[in-house]
Amino acid sequence: MQNTFELIDKLEKERILSREEFIFLIRNRTPEAAEYLFEKARKIRHAVYGKKVYIRGLVEFTNYCKNNCLYCGIRASNKNADRYRLSKEQILDCCEQGYGLGFRTFVLQGGEDNFYTDDMMVDIITAIKQGYPDCALTLSIGEKSRESYQRFFDAGADRYLLRHETADHGHYSRLHPPSLTAENRQRCLFDLKEIGFQTGSGFMVGSPYQTEENLADDMLFLHKLQPHMVGIGPFIPHHDTPFANEKQGTLELTLFMIGLLRLMLPSALLPSTTALGTIAPDGREKGILAGANVVMPNLSPRDVRKKYLLYDNKICTGDEAAECRMCLERRMNGIGYEIAVDRGDFINA
Ligand code: 5AD
Ligand code: FES
Repeated sequence: MQNTFELIDKLEKERILSREEFIFLIRNRTPEAAEYLFEKARKIRHAVYGKKVYIRGLVEFTNYCKNNCLYCGIRASNKNADRYRLSKEQILDCCEQGYGLGFRTFVLQGGEDNFYTDDMMVDIITAIKQGYPDCALTLSIGEKSRESYQRFFDAGADRYLLRHETADHGHYSRLHPPSLTAENRQRCLFDLKEIGFQTGSGFMVGSPYQTEENLADDMLFLHKLQPHMVGIGPFIPHHDTPFANEKQGTLELTLFMIGLLRLMLPSALLPSTTALGTIAPDGREKGILAGANVVMPNLSPRDVRKKYLLYDNKICTGDEAAECRMCLERRMNGIGYEIAVDRGDFINA
């Protein structure tokens, strides 16, 4: 077996490793290997995207959810969640505010909430695209039929985020109720790509029962999918879920996985996530320095922010959109990067 440094060289050159090699590399990583990986990740990222960091304005428009994922704070059976829905007008207000702050991508994210029919979503999508023709619109509203995805795309939605969560079917079934399957999740992702969405997937790092084998399978799944975006962040327990007492994922392993993703998918849009900023004060800066190139500050109205709690201690729930925008600008400038005011489309390098 080669050593970790040779495997990092190999991943950089061939953009893929075998399952055994990924497992070995993840299991035997050291701080020195990580630093070596991040240097290469930054070099690749600078070659494709320079020192730009793309911003996406996140609008969390509903915290109602019909599902019961075991890790998630807005799961249906959490009776303590204080539920809310934003109207089309409220969503448009968020976009207006975001546009003024330089956002050219809006992400509509919510639980799986059947209150919003496909007709209503099409109406909202149409209104946003009419009001902001120079902006990209991203949806993150879960598993739907192929027909629904096609309707959203035809209405003008450009991108779709749906994390695969974990590629291993057995692991998937330990994180989700039986009504949800890895098979349907993955079907959705391939449908979204075929329809023409810029498609984002991803997974949690350090979720309960996760092994190095699972992480290797996540890498192989993403290699097969070739998504445009990959969102990863540490698992963080939420006190009102069955995983309340599980261990949280580490900053160290999350950063290592970001570095591996940058080497495997050189042009991918990789967010340095809010969850990363939640487990460490400089988590998002470290994510950028490990190869990430996107940040997704919150545009949701301040009075609902504390209610969209997927996990405990989420940052930015008391801040205005403008504060987060300025805060991130400062943070990115502080590490030698700059926020880009454009759509930040995938670059096919
Ligand atoms: N910790 C970290 N990430 C979480 N997500 C949901 N619950 C948690 C949690 N407790 C992630 C999932 C989901 C995304 C919107 O948030 O990966 O796809
Ligand atoms: Fe929200 Fe810093 S990004 S306060």
